[in-house]
Amino acid sequence: MSLPYSESCEQNKDVILNAISSFLKSGAEVLEIGSGTGQHAVYFAGLYPEIIWQTSDRQENLAGIRSWLDKGQQQNIPEPIELDVRESWPEKSYNMIFSANSLHIMSESEVEQFFTGCGQRTKPAGHLVVYGPFNYNGDYSSDSNRQFDQWLKARDSESGIKHFEWIDRLAQDAGFKIVDDIEMPANNRTIIWQRETLSD
Ligand SMILES: C[S@@+](CC[C@H](N)C(=O)[O-])C[C@H]1O[C@@H](n2cnc3c(N)ncnc32)[C@H](O)[C@@H]1O
Repeated sequence: MSLPYSESCEQNKDVILNAISSFLKSGAEVLEIGSGTGQHAVYFAGLYPEIIWQTSDRQENLAGIRSWLDKGQQQNIPEPIELDVRESWPEKSYNMIFSANSLHIMSESEVEQFFTGCGQRTKPAGHLVVYGPFNYNGDYSSDSNRQFDQWLKARDSESGIKHFEWIDRLAQDAGFKIVDDIEMPANNRTIIWQRETLSD
């Protein structure tokens, strides 16, 4: 198949890496949810050969991710796994779970299942990182995000930009505490939580 391509991945991969690099410890196993094309995985794992980067997505995207992995031939990216937050989660737990531009595609119920599942699959003291647009104080953070949200909802009325305060509450309920919420280019954010340890 022809290689799927996301221009936004190429544009945001360096700024995302800059935001998360201090959390990518040698030997860490990362689970990426909603890998899309697989471009982030190939780029990040290529620069960090000492971490394992597990890609995942819904069934329909796995062949495209495989094409990127075949092109990259990197030892530290295993076969992509099927993961739909509504039903198919891996049995193991990870040092980090990463997901870019996926929460605004999901419905509210899927986002709830996302956080519950992440809570169960992140190791104590491990990190959960999401990248994308979010609303704050009940409002859009830019006119372009407002227009983007309208476009998303016209495509799928259950999707749309989520409120930071709501997802932070879901993260807390799943056992995470917030570590950082970083302003990114083009009105996006990188939000980082840490899973509480037994002593917290
Ligand atoms: C806009 S794409 C982002 C892809 C990639 N992370 C990126 O930054 O280019 C949204 C991704 O979320 C995934 N996604 C949507 N609903 C999902 C669900 N219920 N479970 C897992 N992934 C889902 C889609 O399959 C898609 O790969």
